[in-house]
Amino acid sequence: MHHFEYNNGILCAEDIPIDDIARDVGTPFYCYSSATLERHFRVFAQAFKRPGALIAYSVKANSNLSVVRTLAKAGAGADVVSRGELRRALTAGVAANRIVFSGVGKTREEMAEALEVGIYQFNVESEPELEALSQVSQAMNKMAPITLRINPDVDAGTHEKITTGRAENKFGIAWGKAREIYRDAASLPGLKIVGVDVHIGSQITALDPFEQAFKKVSGLVKDLRADGHDIQRLDLGGGLGIPYASKGKIPPHPDQYASMIERVTDGLDVQLIFEPGRLIVGNAGLLVSRVIYIKHGENRHFVILDAAMNDLIRPALYDAHHDILPIVEPAQNAVQMPFDVVGPVCETGDRFAQNCNLPPLRSGDLVAIMSTGAYGAVQSCEYNTRPLIPEVMVRGGQMAVIRRRPSYEDMLASEPIADWLN
Ligand code: LLP
Repeated sequence: MHHFEYNNGILCAEDIPIDDIARDVGTPFYCYSSATLERHFRVFAQAFKRPGALIAYSVKANSNLSVVRTLAKAGAGADVVSRGELRRALTAGVAANRIVFSGVGKTREEMAEALEVGIYQFNVESEPELEALSQVSQAMNKMAPITLRINPDVDAGTHEKITTGRAENKFGIAWGKAREIYRDAASLPGLKIVGVDVHIGSQITALDPFEQAFKKVSGLVKDLRADGHDIQRLDLGGGLGIPYASKGKIPPHPDQYASMIERVTDGLDVQLIFEPGRLIVGNAGLLVSRVIYIKHGENRHFVILDAAMNDLIRPALYDAHHDILPIVEPAQNAVQMPFDVVGPVCETGDRFAQNCNLPPLRSGDLVAIMSTGAYGAVQSCEYNTRPLIPEVMVRGGQMAVIRRRPSYEDMLASEPIADWLN
């Protein structure tokens, strides 16, 4: 559930009509609802009956400082994958001892910085990473708390580009080598084994792949304890999907996910850790854009927006579906017709939707591309020298610009002309 609804014929973000925001900040822009962020976090957190779980919001989904701070205030920790994200999480007010560090390619500099601030754990993904972390931590006279991310070889049944738990994916330690590598890890100085980690993909819409993976790693926890390791934590990653369309696939509710986990991990006596991203922010944000032109082709009609694939890459990259709503509520009996909704970038892939039924739109009208709070702004770029678009957060009747639109001068200033060209 989210807080974007029509009120008096205008789509509102909580209590604010979106056309008012467009007037203030110009288009295109991302708009987030603070109440929706808090609600999603609460629904997820309250689904778990067993106390003590750490819900480490996966910052990669939306790393805006105000978004991370909203969630930190609601009780979230953070899952980070780079030094930049670590700094964001700390700046946003997440305590270091509630931060987990994931990713296949942590550098020694990143490890040192994370050790210095005292993060909760490193989720290690390979033998060479174990060795590097052992050396860095030893040199700093520290003990790095580690889990090993295990690749359970389970098909998450999601888009090929966001599945991570199959043997052929680059992620995690091969299932068959897990016990042996835990043994190696235990013999390395500067490391303290604290748990097991798994993450099998994103936008997963069935419980079954999770259950298969979690059963495997729960069994592994027992084997590792039998091998003498002190396994206190089980990090189950993120990946629970969201509904992207009113008529699309409906993923399991967090309550169903939680009760499956409680059943599978019953009696295991571990602290559970979760790294949800999309589930928290996906439906808490939308992308607002203005129609530049309506163009009628021979057998297609195009809505050309001022937002483009550089602002939201998901449809081009993962064939993702996002509902598109006009900001002015269409009349009940409005005739709809199929449009291809596209951006101004010079690529055929710059298309948000194909054959999308919309009421008659005119140049200057506003639309909202829904469910774009996760992996929207964070994956944007300046292709075609289009400035990164602003982000706005709404809380009840209040509104704040939480990332400014850069000026063209800002954009060009970071590119000094090579001396020999002057
Ligand atoms: N933990 C780890 C180790 C991850 O790799 C990810 C996401 C998450 C947690 C959070 O997953 P979530 O709960 O958000 O599904 N750009 C793609 C999604 C990439 C997901 C990468 N890893 C998209 O737009 O669909």
